[in-house]
Amino acid sequence: MTSTHNTKDSNHLPLTPIMHPWIQDLVANSSLLHKSVSKFSSPLNVQSLVPFEENIRAFKSVFDTYQLKHRVYFARKANKCVTYTKQAAELGEGVDTASFEELAQCLEAGINPTQLISTAAVKTQRLMELAVDNHVTIVIDNLDELDLLEKVTERTGKQANISLRVGGFTMDEVKLHTRFGFSISEAKKLILENLAHHPKMEYVGLHFHLNGYSIPERASAIGQCIELIDALAEQDVKTFHLDIGGGYLVNYLSDRSEWETFHKELKRALLEERPELTYRNDPLGIVKIDDTLYGEAKVYPYYNEVHKEGFLDSILTSNVKGYDQPIYQLLRDREIEMRIEPGRSLLDQTGITVARVAFRKHDSAGNLLVGLEMNRTQMKSSSADFLLDPIHLPHNLLDSSDGEQETFGYVVGAYCLEQEFILLRKIKFQGTPAVGDLLVFVNTAGYMMHFFESQAHQFALAENVFYSGDKEFRLDS
Ligand SMILES: Cc1ncc(COP(=O)(O)O)c(C=O)c1O
Repeated sequence: MTSTHNTKDSNHLPLTPIMHPWIQDLVANSSLLHKSVSKFSSPLNVQSLVPFEENIRAFKSVFDTYQLKHRVYFARKANKCVTYTKQAAELGEGVDTASFEELAQCLEAGINPTQLISTAAVKTQRLMELAVDNHVTIVIDNLDELDLLEKVTERTGKQANISLRVGGFTMDEVKLHTRFGFSISEAKKLILENLAHHPKMEYVGLHFHLNGYSIPERASAIGQCIELIDALAEQDVKTFHLDIGGGYLVNYLSDRSEWETFHKELKRALLEERPELTYRNDPLGIVKIDDTLYGEAKVYPYYNEVHKEGFLDSILTSNVKGYDQPIYQLLRDREIEMRIEPGRSLLDQTGITVARVAFRKHDSAGNLLVGLEMNRTQMKSSSADFLLDPIHLPHNLLDSSDGEQETFGYVVGAYCLEQEFILLRKIKFQGTPAVGDLLVFVNTAGYMMHFFESQAHQFALAENVFYSGDKEFRLDS
């Protein structure tokens, strides 16, 4: 297939993904991927437990360094495969469940209820009953949940364990906005007046989860929780754990300068000072009014030097107002169990999404479009675009595209919408991808594969398989 429009773009900017050795192996020996996409259909989510275990151990080693009692609860909302939950439990860690179904599936899988927590944003009676029946700790967010829980405990005669969600922390005199949880003062009143001596509802700890990725905000929130824990202790009310939720940054990209250049050049493109980087100069959330740009691209920060266990370490070694010791020391002195609920960061490098090329064509402006047997909900998060270069695997290796001219184009999907782009960024290919070739999207297990997947047009959902070095993949189970 020839194109006059897309074979030259010396201004193209790469965003090179980091790839774990298991991904490099599969990409280097692509016949297993080709065979498996034929068997399981396109797209196929291929995953590995090797990095998952490495990520869990990395977080644990930080807690071990500071001799902190701890447990890592995998936030399984980030990926629906039950395989990860079983692995987390086998390693002695826990699972944070966000719905009745997520909790029920973990219980059916035989995970010990003491390793499970429920943080669902909406808790139905059915969910409360299941949690209470199994003595699963419930994170309580509001008074109506507490009322419902009380009724469930009265009816069943069973005891409930409560971790109270707190929020609305102040940072530099400004309140951090949230729709979740009780303020510190509300929580104190509630615990002392309603829970401390309740016959059926036992207060066991505090929980928060902050939006965004600020280390100082997390440190400040922990400081305010410690003040509350101390105030409760003065009234002989013990707090057993402090759960600081998820939100540990991940680093997806291998090169800082690629990331910085992309952002700089995106703005230049929007101001028409250089050729476009995104489809029809999509601003990725930046607002342009009268040749002035406002705001930044609304995308996940894909390049991060402080990430995962380093991010946790930075929180624990922070100092907080009113105390002259670092956070880890404050928690250790009080014998508080530290809990975290990482989702995305435990899934770093655990998954790839592989899709088959269905067609090539040009749009009315002459842009090359590479159509995939996949839709955009099968690789979608709240980020305006997934800013990593895909890997192109030709199906006919003899017909290698190595010597071919570079082409530039956009990757589109199967939903019948003008907006149906798998990636908004212009992608460089070695030669033009052929029908039957594969594109591999790297590091998609955290949120990208499952969070927004839908079945419009009645397309089947993608299969989820696990790779452990064998010649066959194993289906998630
Ligand atoms: C309560 C709670 N815990 C944990 C997480 C997981 O966050 P992340 O995947 O960013 O680590 C979330 C994400 O929304 C959450 O709401």
